Amino acid sequence: MVSSKDENLLKHMTDALIQHIDTGVHIIDDRAQTIYYNTKMAEIEGMKPEDVLEKPIYELFSFMESEESTLYEALTKGKQTVGRRQTYKNQYGDKIATINDTFPVRSEQGNIVGAIELARDVTQLENLIQEHMQKRARTSFTFDHLIGESKALQEVIQDAKRATRTSSSVLIVGETGTGKEIFAQSIHTGSERSAAPFVAQNCAAIPDQLLESLLFGTKSGAFTGAKEQAGLFEQANGGTLLLDEINSLNTPLQAKLLRAIQEKRVRRVGDTKEKEVDVRIIATMNQDPVEAVNEGRLRKDLFYRLSVVSLFVPPLRERKEDIDELISFFITKYNQLFRLGVTDVSTGVLTYLKAYDWPGNVRELEHIIEGGLNFMDAGEKVLKVEHLPGHFKIRILPELEKEEIENENEEAIVSPVNYEEEILPLKTVLYEQERNYVKHALNQYNGNVSKTAEALGLSRQSLQYRLRKLNLNST
Ligand SMILES: Nc1ncnc2c1ncn2[C@@H]1O[C@H](COP(=O)(O)OP(=O)(O)OP(=O)(O)O)[C@@H](O)[C@H]1O
Ligand SMILES: [Mg+2]
Repeated sequence: MVSSKDENLLKHMTDALIQHIDTGVHIIDDRAQTIYYNTKMAEIEGMKPEDVLEKPIYELFSFMESEESTLYEALTKGKQTVGRRQTYKNQYGDKIATINDTFPVRSEQGNIVGAIELARDVTQLENLIQEHMQKRARTSFTFDHLIGESKALQEVIQDAKRATRTSSSVLIVGETGTGKEIFAQSIHTGSERSAAPFVAQNCAAIPDQLLESLLFGTKSGAFTGAKEQAGLFEQANGGTLLLDEINSLNTPLQAKLLRAIQEKRVRRVGDTKEKEVDVRIIATMNQDPVEAVNEGRLRKDLFYRLSVVSLFVPPLRERKEDIDELISFFITKYNQLFRLGVTDVSTGVLTYLKAYDWPGNVRELEHIIEGGLNFMDAGEKVLKVEHLPGHFKIRILPELEKEEIENENEEAIVSPVNYEEEILPLKTVLYEQERNYVKHALNQYNGNVSKTAEALGLSRQSLQYRLRKLNLNST
């Protein structure tokens, strides 16, 4: 038990807690009047607490009928709802979408004395979905957009081209940034479905509950505020539906998806009727599917169904011979965009780029080239190490220590630290400075280690250690 003084303190603390948590909290008393309305809830619903407090909720929010408010149902019927999506309008007519948990609160005698609603905001998420839907209408990629002559990549391209002749499901497995989306679009564009829509959805980006409505559609009244809306299956009818990160779907939804694929029919959420659909499914994942099955993250039956054609896109580190061509490709691209005339990269840059193991694959390489070109001036022709983004240089340090780096044929021997530019990690700056200065000193003494060591005030052994650490060739 707490003393009355402690009770006051506890109430104060609870108030503070409720005001600060990132969940909307709305509490009503037995007359359906708001007695608690936290900051987050005010933000989600676009209302001011003073507009809401001590007013009956059905005066403020327009639901289809007041009874359909989960709060009101909790109060009048003792009904508890979990994870329910609600859409409604606030006093100012703005549309609000939330996912709510609502429950009644009972007195010790068992009478309902009020109700509490906890809400997560999905309005922003839904706006994002709308935007996303409009954007994804276009398909532009074909197999010609896949750069790289390596055998590893070309073999996958050949398999993918074969897949354009059928409507079988395709499973594309590959790390992030390996070009899975280009593959999927190319298969669609190369197939006889190309005139029909290509619709893409990332399954990891959206809560499962919304995703189900998004994929299969909703019937009006399926839940409060639900509109009659076609799902992505229906929107992709005749064409291709790309489902990214399929392994992040929850198991019931995977089962529902499997049924839709097998029976070629979908049923909108809340509907009893089914509709026939003709959709080719391309699914992607960035994890080994067999592992995902073993870990219970991918249903075995769905895996078999999806993997009629499986494409494994190799990571960039396993086809480093593609790096040169990709560099030229991205330089041409960003030359046009930034109005530059870059023709080459220095051997130093090439060594860096070849030494790195590219966890972000082609996307990461593209960003590095784009970032590098950002640091170049109109007249410059050669992309040099100094142009590369600092965060990239610091990431590659450990790998450089393993690799033998060629002497760079760059004229800047001791580059002054530029105090105008962004602050780089000290380790990078010191490494660069030390490396440049030692190289400069070695050049002065024609590569004579003893003389260079003496001039630098180091022992011969200590200089040799540094040369190895700095990946400088000693002669
Ligand atoms: N072989 C390639 N040739 C040219 N550009 C490529 C290639 N592979 C990937 N890219 C480029 O890299 C970026 C990422 O590609 P994409 O979106 O297809 O990757 P993803 O495998 O779908 O990645 P994620 O798993 O993160 O969704 C895009 O800008 C794409 O144009
Ligand atoms: Mg992708």
